[in-house]
Amino acid sequence: MRVIHSQSELIKTLKVLTNIAFVPTMGNLHEGHHKLIEEALKKTKYVVVSIFINPLQFNSKEDFLSYPRTIDEDLSILQKLNVPFVFTPSKEDILGALQIIEIHLPNIANDLCGKFRPGHFNGVTTIVCKLFNLIRPDLAFFGKKDFQQLFLIKELVKQLNYPIQIIGIDTIRDYDGLAKSSRNTLLSAENRKKASQLFKLMNTMKDEVIQKTSSFKEIEESATKSLNTSGWAVDYIAIRSAQSLKTPVHDENHIVILGAASLGSVRLIDNIEFCI
Ligand code: PAF
Repeated sequence: MRVIHSQSELIKTLKVLTNIAFVPTMGNLHEGHHKLIEEALKKTKYVVVSIFINPLQFNSKEDFLSYPRTIDEDLSILQKLNVPFVFTPSKEDILGALQIIEIHLPNIANDLCGKFRPGHFNGVTTIVCKLFNLIRPDLAFFGKKDFQQLFLIKELVKQLNYPIQIIGIDTIRDYDGLAKSSRNTLLSAENRKKASQLFKLMNTMKDEVIQKTSSFKEIEESATKSLNTSGWAVDYIAIRSAQSLKTPVHDENHIVILGAASLGSVRLIDNIEFCI
């Protein structure tokens, strides 16, 4: 496994290769990342995994500083998975002294998570573009847990004509349904027990949507109330079109329920996608 620390070394190393698959990460690798990497390795032997905790996508310094940093463990996982290339740039190398230019995203980037994390998706797409430009992958793998991120990256690639196939990989879940996330390790033991409530509630909402027991608005409000009563602080729980991420129109049948809520200081997101 070759661990590459600088842009110049990365460009030199990848220049001669074709058919590159890319898995961007912020480290603290868990089974969700393993799955992305395994799927990438099924497509090509030239897989690049990046590890960079991107300051541009955090809304507070505390959140950035508390993000789990486990580079030694991550490298040993990547070695075991037989990843050929790991890119771990420094902030200075990848962001330079100044980053003023950013991507102008569609309005949906300011809704859902974007409403509660202003500028978050500008930060995500800026770093993803920079990494795409350096790595020039043929394929790039992203988890479906970050449904809105995946949606915006697909739009970005389409609208900016990147010749990259974006592949979304299903969420990997823990024994009780909790979506695997780097943030799970920050949960207290008590809150870890509670954390699967979010996904369980989304399953109940899915049944209600399919059975048309109430209006979407009523289903969202009752789910929000139920989580808040159980000690969560809900940012949003929303029933949306899986195609547009907007409120479903009359005969829309491909639905996604998305949610973000905090337990203590740990903000979790999840979603469930289905057809009616
Ligand atoms: O999903 C993530 O871990 C990050 O948003 C990404 C895509 C690596 C960009 O920093």
